[in-house]
Amino acid sequence: MYSPTKISFKQQLEIQMISHKILALHGRATTVMIEVTLGKMPVWRYFGATLKSAPGARQWAVTDVRAPLPASIDRLEGVPLFPGEANGQKFSPALSMHRGGLDWVHECILTQWDDSTEGTIRLVLSDALVGISVILVLSLAPESDVLRMRTQLKNHGNAPLELQSMAVATIGLPSAAREIGYFTGQWAQEFQWRRHAIAPTGWERVSRAGRTSHDAVPAWCMLTPETAQFVGQAWCAHLAWSGNHRVSVLPTDGGSFCLQAGEYLAPGEAFLAPGDSIETPELLISYSSNGLDGASVALHEHLQSAVLKWPGGRMRPRPVHLNTWEAVYFRHDLVELTDLAGKASSLGIERFVLDDGWFQGRNDDLAALGDWWPDPTKYPAGLAPLIDHVRGLGMEFGLWVEPEMVNPDSQLFRNHPDWALQISGREFVTGRNQLVLDVFRPEVADYLFSKLDVLLRDNAISYLKWDMNRDLAQAGGADGRASYRRQVHSLYALLDKIRAAHPTVEIESCAAGGARTDYGILRHTHRLWLSDNNDALSRLTIQSGAFRLFPPEIAGSHVGPAPAHTTGRSQSLEFRGAISLFGHFGIEADIRYLSDGDCQILAGWISLYKSLRDTLHHGRFHQGNSATGLTWWMAIDDHRAVLGVFRGTQPDSANEPELLLPPLTGDALWRVRMERCVGKIRAHASIDAPLFDAYREGGAIFSGHELAQLGLPLPTMNAESALIFVLDRLPGNALD
Ligand code: GLA
Repeated sequence: MYSPTKISFKQQLEIQMISHKILALHGRATTVMIEVTLGKMPVWRYFGATLKSAPGARQWAVTDVRAPLPASIDRLEGVPLFPGEANGQKFSPALSMHRGGLDWVHECILTQWDDSTEGTIRLVLSDALVGISVILVLSLAPESDVLRMRTQLKNHGNAPLELQSMAVATIGLPSAAREIGYFTGQWAQEFQWRRHAIAPTGWERVSRAGRTSHDAVPAWCMLTPETAQFVGQAWCAHLAWSGNHRVSVLPTDGGSFCLQAGEYLAPGEAFLAPGDSIETPELLISYSSNGLDGASVALHEHLQSAVLKWPGGRMRPRPVHLNTWEAVYFRHDLVELTDLAGKASSLGIERFVLDDGWFQGRNDDLAALGDWWPDPTKYPAGLAPLIDHVRGLGMEFGLWVEPEMVNPDSQLFRNHPDWALQISGREFVTGRNQLVLDVFRPEVADYLFSKLDVLLRDNAISYLKWDMNRDLAQAGGADGRASYRRQVHSLYALLDKIRAAHPTVEIESCAAGGARTDYGILRHTHRLWLSDNNDALSRLTIQSGAFRLFPPEIAGSHVGPAPAHTTGRSQSLEFRGAISLFGHFGIEADIRYLSDGDCQILAGWISLYKSLRDTLHHGRFHQGNSATGLTWWMAIDDHRAVLGVFRGTQPDSANEPELLLPPLTGDALWRVRMERCVGKIRAHASIDAPLFDAYREGGAIFSGHELAQLGLPLPTMNAESALIFVLDRLPGNALD
């Protein structure tokens, strides 16, 4: 150790400058600083709001700013980006590996770095003793300010390498970030947002569902205790991956926190032959100093600009769906479906999606998955007559499939029992009476491609609802090894092959509702089915949770029957319409039996959706809650904002305080019109506030600052009510 007092300031500076360097990424409002020294492990210096210059950090390396602690290893480190096993500190290793029980200690050091590409840092690390190299790539997406990280490991040794775990990296976060926000959930109750302090022991979550899962969507926000929806700091991370995953947050000795996230690897699953490499999924982290809202806006922008790949390169207006599932379930009758399509088109529906029940022998969920050709008793002339009818009515046709699955009671399984994931000698583990096909096997992927290819080639199908109704369990491949991660990669490859062969087809990712919802699957698909729960009250919570990660245009939201089939609860048709308005709108009910009045109501919501979808789906999306328990959702584009205000349960207060709308802040003037008032508003039978009358008539004018700080006056809303406002931006501004 050198003593700074014995040398001049200039000398100190020179020594420090040669020994370490700060590499920085600057986004719109975010800075990331990594300290690098050739021959050492790179460490985190900073991840937060824009910091253009940090002469202190440039001069003093992380090892200079603190002294070794008593009873600790005689080696100082900051938070390493990729700590090894047995690092002597409390950092859990980013990589845990061995070669037949040896080579388990590794310490990767920096051998090369490159920050010559604007917005990207590439770090090459290696441990020559054990024969591995690691490439870490960090970039700050200029459009969205989201930090993207991806890591590659290569085996340079002569013997195979067994990985026990590998995170994308370890992320250093400041001591203020001591709360965690994340999702829990279950079938029909996805995206339940939770938030609490991180225990002194840290926090960890592992998901072994083999898909994103209902309960552990891989998205986590590190927050300060003061962080709220529109204020305070948030670091929101998302692993763009549709399989097993693991995240941990551990406090460090320095009081700061380390977040580590990556795939969860089953034993023996990641096995690198000499010369082989493995790459992690992408870890995205959005930093915001404007609360959770800022992080969501940035993630949405990233998804829209860098993840989704629309047919033709551009998202078309999202068509209104009719999905047949809750209308007819497995009871497919051509005459009934023809009637249903006729009714759908008369209401203004634009896409007719034929759900489960159409293929060979599929009359319930006990049989037939795998036999992907039309059932000849239900569709004697194939699907063409129904498709022609649907298209003749001016609608597109979509079809449900669940390609990765097979029922033991199917022709496919009888012919190829070895095609299912399994462990030899063990009983099959079924879920919804089905098994999972080993899509990694080329003959399985070829079979699935050929069946889907024929369907898409022979029929005018422009949309697939791609389902996946069970978790993976005992997912053994043909070689007996765990096959979770290669299953996900093979699925991605299959989706890509189908999209390349049928580039105009859109695909929805469904997995018993929302069990496969992540930016990994969204590289290959275009819509998410968030939940099998169409109960509008449940949806208020589910969609609020999902909107933290996903924008409304890809979030399927259907008006279902009342009572709702999953909960048995009923809400008014109006309330159901209002909730679905803020998603990719659809109907999932037997509309043939609606009264004329209900048909009119539904047609009204469909036409309102069509008139507003441009703003709803291209605007920036925000959400919030009032102190009195209102939920609001709002999309804002350059000219217009669409605001939905919802109350689920009865209010405690007699009068509703003004609703604060921080995203509207600014000098602009807005004319506020009430488009819809759903449910019961608390008012005298014959007298209403003049302002509320004005909302319904020509509209009332407010400034952006006023709406953000003083708020929008609202009537008191009773349970299960909603107000839909349209705010038109006026020329000029409040100060003119
Ligand atoms: C899953 C989906 C539903 C429906 C059924 C069909 O549960 O989430 O929307 O498609 O499968 O079996």
